[in-house]
Amino acid sequence: MLEKLSLDGKTVVITGGGTGLGREMAVAMARAGADLVIASRRQGPIDETADLVKAEGRKAIAVSTDVTDSSQVRNLFDKTLAEFGKVDVLFNNAGIVRGQGSIPIWEVSDEDWHLGIDTNLTGAFYCCRAIAQHMIERGGGKIVNVASGFGFRGGRDNYMYACGKGGVVQLTRTITTSMSRYGIICTCIAPGYIPTEGTAASNDTLPRGEFIPIGRVGYPHEMGPLAVFLASESSDYMNGEVFVIDGGGLAGGFAPTGYAPEIPLEV
Ligand SMILES: NC(=O)c1ccc[n+]([C@@H]2O[C@H](COP(=O)([O-])OP(=O)(O)OC[C@H]3O[C@@H](n4cnc5c(N)ncnc54)[C@H](OP(=O)(O)O)[C@@H]3O)[C@@H](O)[C@H]2O)c1
Repeated sequence: MLEKLSLDGKTVVITGGGTGLGREMAVAMARAGADLVIASRRQGPIDETADLVKAEGRKAIAVSTDVTDSSQVRNLFDKTLAEFGKVDVLFNNAGIVRGQGSIPIWEVSDEDWHLGIDTNLTGAFYCCRAIAQHMIERGGGKIVNVASGFGFRGGRDNYMYACGKGGVVQLTRTITTSMSRYGIICTCIAPGYIPTEGTAASNDTLPRGEFIPIGRVGYPHEMGPLAVFLASESSDYMNGEVFVIDGGGLAGGFAPTGYAPEIPLEV
């Protein structure tokens, strides 16, 4: 049974793999047998993740890439194919976790909008577009996108992140309906609040788990097993769906919108 979770011989490309959730998922997939290509803008963090993958006995390369630039995305896959000859799984994990802060719509500049949407959505689209034909020629592949609970709800003064992540959910569905016939399986992970470098700006202000049914925020390492599962053949019939990993947050409508988070109910 457990052999169905094995990633032996698989090549996985993960964007945003130098830090936070991406690093945890990369190392977990290496432990399950995968070779990794790790991409993000800063070379230092992706080199460190590559070293962690190698320490697990797997191969790894780190390719500095800004996913908002389609020529850099093409370079990422050129280097991947030159090194490994194939891509079995693409993880679109790069994102900005509310990087621009919370500002009213009239203060959102064109640059703010494009940075948020391009990082959280366009980059994933570029990566899917760059590798689709390769996957089709090989008879298939897997694409796993990383959205957020904000892909399913609004947030006060939270335009680029919520719209970008909602777009990532729709990208997942559109890839599925367009490319399943070629053997490409596409799924999506929607994490809840998991403190990382990316959430640093709000780690001191967001609730520490009081409003999450399970009573705590998530740990980055909790993303690893889900990543392995979605990259492996165990999940081959799961397609076009979003897997929420949030301690039950969305189930109860957990939403740090900036309003009173909870109104006592007499029910
Ligand atoms: N942590 C949470 O609570 C949470 C909740 C829901 C969803 N998520 C999603 O989970 C993913 C990982 O987030 P995280 O919490 O692990 O934050 P993180 O540590 O900041 O990771 C985000 C990664 O994306 C990379 N990145 C940012 N812009 C990029 C660009 N233009 N091109 C390439 N890479 C870029 C960053 O590396 P560089 O700066 O080196 O480029 C960084 O390694 C994100 O998509 C985020 O939206 C996180």
